[in-house]
Amino acid sequence: MIILAIESSCDETSVAVLKDEREILSHVLVSQMDVFKKFGGVVPEIASRNHVSVITQLIDQALKNAHISPQDLSLVAVTEGPGLIGALLVGVNAATAFAYANQLPIIGVNHLAGHIYSANLIQPFQFPLLAFLVSGGHTELVYMKEHMSFEVIGETLDDAVGEAYDKVAKMLGLGYPGGPIIDQLALLGEDTYHLPRPKLESHGLNFSFSGLKSAVANIIGKEKEKININNMCTSFQSAVLEVIQFKLEKVYDHYEVNQTIVVGGVAANIGLRRMLEQQFQSRNIIVPPLNYCTDNAVMIAAAAFHQYHLNPSFKDYVLGGQANLSL
Ligand code: KG4
Ligand code: ZN
Repeated sequence: MIILAIESSCDETSVAVLKDEREILSHVLVSQMDVFKKFGGVVPEIASRNHVSVITQLIDQALKNAHISPQDLSLVAVTEGPGLIGALLVGVNAATAFAYANQLPIIGVNHLAGHIYSANLIQPFQFPLLAFLVSGGHTELVYMKEHMSFEVIGETLDDAVGEAYDKVAKMLGLGYPGGPIIDQLALLGEDTYHLPRPKLESHGLNFSFSGLKSAVANIIGKEKEKININNMCTSFQSAVLEVIQFKLEKVYDHYEVNQTIVVGGVAANIGLRRMLEQQFQSRNIIVPPLNYCTDNAVMIAAAAFHQYHLNPSFKDYVLGGQANLSL
């Protein structure tokens, strides 16, 4: 089975061609990260326009790099949400038009399922598994007993981890996206600020990062230019990692887990990767390579493969121009 997948939910436009479960025939991506550096965050309208200007070329390029023509494809898959609505629409419309023109079936894929399936590209899932999804928009602990079955057992009650990184970086005047910058500077400092560790005992497996963010804001407000940036980055990252470690231990205490996968943009975090290696050596933890942690179309194709096989009714999406995608 050969799948062409499109991802355009935020500021990356990406197209991939995947053969069966994990043979990547091609993957092309245009990131708008540099465009949004000067705005300090993604501007949805600009993101949508930029998706429009590259998506057709990227589809052509992905087919060319895979050395195939549209007739060789079995399925078109596209991220249908969650994400920026205008950005999603560009991908959905491009995918629908391409599928209709080439008389191919099309399915809509959940972006978070895509992130989770980025790990299945690296190693086959071993159920029951724990997927820890940490990105700019999400912080979720997802328990999976079989393919495409997702039970959310914990999530953030306010800011996502990546969002907290980005906001703290902004307060410190470090630029966008803040996660990788704080991660690098955290290597150079010491945990001198002793920030709160919001463990939310009463909220079980849920997270909350807004209090931690406010604690940083309060110190910046009081100490202003006296802030030691490196130490603040180390202190913030230490607090985040301690909370994550605490929650993972809690999951292992209460659930049978044969494999843990850590996915999403924040999975690129060096401190997080180190902590996982040191604290959970025996836990069969899979963290995909960096280029599959951040948004990409390969992960969408990887999820689509299982979605299509598990739900034969998706085959009814075939032809006729009715893509049946609900956003
Ligand atoms: O998954 P992603 O590419 O986009 C979505 O949010 O769906 O994640 C982007 C987020 C941003 O908040 C960025 O700051 C964060 O991932 N991030 C990091 C690191 N690299 C990216 N956060 C902490 N440490 C990093 N090394
Ligand atoms: Zn994402």
